[in-house]
Amino acid sequence: MANNFLKKVSAQISSSIIITDDEIMAPHLTDWRGNFNGRASALLMPTDTKMVSAIMRIADEENQVIVPQGGNTGLVGGGIPDQSGDSVILSLQKMNSIIEFSRENRTITVQAGCILQHIHELVEKEGLYFPLSLAAKGSCTIGGNLATNAGGVNVLRYGTMREQCLGLQIVLSDGTIINQLTPLRKDNTGYDLKNLFIGSEGTLGIITVACLKLVSKPIARATAIAVIDKIEHALELLNILQHHSGDLVESFEVMPKALLDIVYKQFPNYSQPIKLASGFILLMEISSSKSDELENDNSGEPALQILVERCLEKALEEDLITDAVIATNEAQRQTFWAIRENAPQATKQESWPINTDISVRRDKLAEFYNHASDAIRNICKNCRICGYGHVGDGNLHFNVVEAEGGDPDWPQKRAPLLAAIYLSLSEFEGSISAEHGIGQLKTDQLKNTKDAQYYRIMTKLKNNFDPKNILNPNRIIK
Ligand code: FAD
Ligand code: LAC
Ligand code: ZN
Repeated sequence: MANNFLKKVSAQISSSIIITDDEIMAPHLTDWRGNFNGRASALLMPTDTKMVSAIMRIADEENQVIVPQGGNTGLVGGGIPDQSGDSVILSLQKMNSIIEFSRENRTITVQAGCILQHIHELVEKEGLYFPLSLAAKGSCTIGGNLATNAGGVNVLRYGTMREQCLGLQIVLSDGTIINQLTPLRKDNTGYDLKNLFIGSEGTLGIITVACLKLVSKPIARATAIAVIDKIEHALELLNILQHHSGDLVESFEVMPKALLDIVYKQFPNYSQPIKLASGFILLMEISSSKSDELENDNSGEPALQILVERCLEKALEEDLITDAVIATNEAQRQTFWAIRENAPQATKQESWPINTDISVRRDKLAEFYNHASDAIRNICKNCRICGYGHVGDGNLHFNVVEAEGGDPDWPQKRAPLLAAIYLSLSEFEGSISAEHGIGQLKTDQLKNTKDAQYYRIMTKLKNNFDPKNILNPNRIIK
């Protein structure tokens, strides 16, 4: 099967886009966490939409399974082929051209393989800003961000990837090209297919080009860390900040002490901006594109920083926080962010953590945190509860790390611990995947938790767009 397919690709498109070298293919066959390992008969690296379309036309003729892949930073195994060795990986990495940039329309149209950070750098040079931001920004691609509807650390202010996208070009499983590459901000001409493909994790079509919306580049920023002893205080502080800043809060992230200890242990060179005996830190960032926010008042401090200081003083007076520190320069700001962004890397190095990506209503998040923590403690007294992340969005990576020094029973404890977290989540009517998607990891869970009629419609959509089940099969729907 794969042989015929590859022969046709070679004859009808080009042999130069086919890679079968084991060493080159290796990084495409395993995921960032090392939880999924697959095999593939080849890796294809097309350079434009026409080639992707021709590949899918041949795949349709030959019943060839295709697994789309961007930067391979996904955390649910969606871009990793199965173990059969029959799949072909279609990497968009060489499709990394900028097609159009318009300062006036505040849009940028890019091929799907463009790296997120490159887009940041490019538009920031022009005084504009593409707000999606996540720790994997140096290697994840716009196509992957769209296919997973990525979230990250700026969702609070700007929304998820869905909100950043105006138009898409998509190749369907039979090679049909759908052009909805509109740079229009308003367009109510029928069903919104774009939003169906965003978040579909390569199961309905291959995103080849996207038109993205840009906003003004923030020129003033205030970044602070505050210590709270109770998770309940996080939301109270966020509401103060949002109210007093007129919704200028970009990021509002939480990290418990147990996780900070792991980060400092794994990255001993990091300086610790603030000491805490217990509880949590909140990392918050407020930004503005208004030039007067940069101006100093009589105190010599930028206006935005004064605003944050006042909010933190109020929080101190109200006993919401016990301590706080504001970054006084860019280097210090970077240090704060490095601690947060390296949390997943640190826990990966520390042990074999239980990872989740849950969300609940943000006004129920503290209650969930305490409820789930109690459930964990009932199973495992000494394991380290490392629920952290996007608290302002009600989204936590409610992760658990085995007890310091190792726990011989850790492999057996993992399943009951995970079940306890999800049982708690179901009581709070939360989501099993806030931002990472379903991939291969959560297909059973999705089937068991999604409304049955909703799941049936999703299955119908999959069958309609991919009747031969050749496009990333057994992801999302199984
Ligand atoms: P890949 O991993 O290559 O693919 C992801 C999925 O999309 C797969 O199912 C694949 O088949 C499909 N796909 C890829 N490209 C296309 C395409 N062009 N057309 C159709 N389907 C396609 N995610 C967040 O949301 N928020 C975070 O804060 C966050 N932080 C992270 C931190 C770290 C350290 C790491 C390693 C990951 C993090 N992620 C986060 C997860 C990951 O970075 C995102 O899911 C990202 O959007 C994936 O992009 P990618 O290009 O690497 O996609
Ligand atoms: C984070 C990733 C794991 O927020 O989503 O760190
Ligand atoms: Zn996250």
